[in-house]
Amino acid sequence: MAFFGHEFCRAFSSSALRSVAIKHVVIIGGGQMGAGIAQVAASTGHQVTLVDMSEAILTKAVKDMGTSLKRVVKKKYADKPEAGEAFIEKVLGNVSTATDATAAVQSTDLVLEAIVENLKVKQELFSVLDKAAPAHTIFASNTSSLPIGDIASATSRLDRFGGLHFFNPVPMMKLVEVIGTSATSQETFDSLMNFSKALGKTTVSCKDTPGFIVNRLLVPYMMEAVRLHERGHGSKEDIDVAMKLGAGYPMGPFELLDYVGLDTAKFILDGWSAMDQKNPLFTPSSLLNKLVAEGKLGKKTGEGFYKYK
Ligand code: NAI
Repeated sequence: MAFFGHEFCRAFSSSALRSVAIKHVVIIGGGQMGAGIAQVAASTGHQVTLVDMSEAILTKAVKDMGTSLKRVVKKKYADKPEAGEAFIEKVLGNVSTATDATAAVQSTDLVLEAIVENLKVKQELFSVLDKAAPAHTIFASNTSSLPIGDIASATSRLDRFGGLHFFNPVPMMKLVEVIGTSATSQETFDSLMNFSKALGKTTVSCKDTPGFIVNRLLVPYMMEAVRLHERGHGSKEDIDVAMKLGAGYPMGPFELLDYVGLDTAKFILDGWSAMDQKNPLFTPSSLLNKLVAEGKLGKKTGEGFYKYK
């Protein structure tokens, strides 16, 4: 049954009965998002295989997870440090790593992709994995901006394909946007909802539209801040202070762009601008393009709009 009929279906049967329980997940991409999702999934008792292109990236991802978990247990197990250590060991014990995605997906309930924000690269990956994964395996993308339907079109499992959009940093941010396309089955959608809830997240249901809910509002806002700065109407420092103290936002737009990653922001904007060239909110920014060309991608590279070294 297609996603758009889910209200009808819900009236007749319990979603918990029809959805597939996700116990094992393969996460492709061990960067900021993939490592964060892996940590949360492993912390909530799921078996996780984290896949990336090199052992060095995976070693760093697992090390970062350990550092993040230490922060969690410092608060949660303040009086019981041994229980905290045991928790970290148990969580990391739920995580294995691999560089061969095809082998990793041969026995899993969910493949969740968090690789580079590029449609062709994501399609190529899913097309290969579609042939290797079992029939029951659900595929999902953590894309920030690309149509889920376009990514899914590279596979033959359109009914078992959806979007799970997490937020950075994943262990801290409570929201997951769950996206169904017109071909996503009700069972798949319910499984993705239940999985997100099992991770302790609050879910919202989204249509497969550019940016879903959060980024459709957030990216134009951040880019308007960059354009305002490019016009010379405010320094980045002043704009950040203004939005934090005047609008009550926890981070200013430039701080947030550095946190998200300027390459990711550029991929999003370029994709939307190609889709709708007349929309002034999607106009590319020469300043953003320059920083990306210089390899200044934000916090992850030590410099973006600000320096972090
Ligand atoms: P990142 O650059 O930190 O990590 C991407 C990882 O994917 C890298 O480790 C890279 O080696 C790996 N990778 C690339 N191609 C691969 C392949 N074919 N097979 C295996 N691994 C591969 O990027 P980040 O920030 O984690 O973003 C990943 C995805 O999540 C993107 O689609 C992005 O739009 C989305 N996203 C990003 C958010 C953010 O705030 N950075 C928030 C929500 C979603």
